[in-house]
Amino acid sequence: MNSEALLQTESVERLKSIVRGMEEEKGRKITACVITFGCQMNARDSEKLSGILSEAGFELSEDEASDFVIYNTCTVRDNANQRVYGRLGALYAMKKKHPDKKIALCGCMMQEPSVIEKIKKSYSFVDLIFGTHNIYRFASLLCRMYEEGSMVVEIWDKAETIVEDLPIVRKYPFKSGVNIMFGCDNFCSYCIVPYVRGRERSREPKDILREIEVLAADGVKEVMLLGQNVNSYGKGLDVPVSFSELLSMVSEIEGIERIRFMTSHPKDLSDDLIRVMRDTPKVCRHLHLPLQSGSTKLLEVMNRRYTKDQYLELALRIREAIPDLAITTDIIVGFPGETDEDIEDTLEVIRRVKFDNAFTFIYSPRTGTPAASMEQVPDKLTKERFDRLLKLVQDTAREAVSKYEGQVMDALVEEINEHDPSLLTGRLSNNTIVHFPGEPSLIGQIVPVELRECKGFYYLGEIVI
Ligand code: SAH
Ligand code: SF4
Ligand code: F3S
Repeated sequence: MNSEALLQTESVERLKSIVRGMEEEKGRKITACVITFGCQMNARDSEKLSGILSEAGFELSEDEASDFVIYNTCTVRDNANQRVYGRLGALYAMKKKHPDKKIALCGCMMQEPSVIEKIKKSYSFVDLIFGTHNIYRFASLLCRMYEEGSMVVEIWDKAETIVEDLPIVRKYPFKSGVNIMFGCDNFCSYCIVPYVRGRERSREPKDILREIEVLAADGVKEVMLLGQNVNSYGKGLDVPVSFSELLSMVSEIEGIERIRFMTSHPKDLSDDLIRVMRDTPKVCRHLHLPLQSGSTKLLEVMNRRYTKDQYLELALRIREAIPDLAITTDIIVGFPGETDEDIEDTLEVIRRVKFDNAFTFIYSPRTGTPAASMEQVPDKLTKERFDRLLKLVQDTAREAVSKYEGQVMDALVEEINEHDPSLLTGRLSNNTIVHFPGEPSLIGQIVPVELRECKGFYYLGEIVI
């Protein structure tokens, strides 16, 4: 264990006695609630926050009325920020009634100096603020918060080390995200992630494999390898290992039955990766391959480093190599300078690739990124184009998803259906959701399901015995 991990272990011990003290004073358990905004990276970070809170003796809860509430924030688009400010208002009302309540903020939004200024000025009731680079110091920061009694703010502008061996509480016992790398070096001109998550750093393969072995021994069947651009995994390691090599190594771990990964940048997707995906049954039949735009002109301004034709060639080559693979994508509408012609190019790519799903986003200018100072497209035009694009995406996706009607496929049972408790909800290898009658004891199992009826983006089915 390195010195930093040791310091955190000591801090957890200090926290335990702080929590015990509060329990004695209040005559009950002390509760903590972690709320996550944003992507799978943040979700995984939140599991680390929960791990430390649980180790320190807090009772984890999903109720924001808890004694301690932490928001793990996202700033990829402005609406993510607005949601945080809105919900902070509600937390303040609770804190006025219960002054002992503690409120913390962390994550990507906190790496922006303007956000910190705003919180200090207008949300001074917040007790603790830290960023993405010092999240592993959560235990010692929490101690400071309880001991100092005034707002604690600690933001680092870059990451010092990758700290291994933090305690973790997983949201699902049977599946888990696994970070294989942190940060991003691509600097797409619209994107704030490289500024708030720092430079790209890969974890050592041995650390990743050991983590997955421990997860498998603990009952995890499905892992999702996480990175902003997994295809460039391995750069800067003492002994470089490519992403496709890592994927093969992970597939050899006994007990792991499904492997997913997020996200693939088209410019770095290798032939080797296509081959490993095709030949490794444990690798799920799903590839998320963000397009962003179908216009070569806009792709260049976005700094994506591929053209419309290169994307099409790649996607169609993958479709041919692995016909049962679902391809999903991200698309931005309203990027500076976008014209009707550019939208037509994007629509054409959608028609030709026939995405199984596409997440469409309205461009949101992010302070400090090159695109924010370019001439913006009027909202009205963007809204009309967005609706047009969404309609096509929905039609194509419905067609792509419904291809498997009548077939039997394996589903990993994830939970009881939210709306109808007599149904279970499972996920197919190609990431499509299926709902079917069944006993909750099946949660965490992989079961064969007949896909009876396609309902657009999901199926209704029956377990086949
Ligand atoms: N690393 C991933 C994406 C991370 S952000 C990748 O390169 O694909 C997730 C998605 O948010 C992006 O794919 C993009 O479509 C969208 N996005 C990022 N910045 C945005 C912005 N400023 N406005 C609107 N959408 C944005
Ligand atoms: Fe953002 Fe581009 Fe990096 Fe993805 S690859 S996180 S879109 S800069
Ligand atoms: Fe958001 Fe940070 Fe992820 S900005 S999308 S939570 S890396």
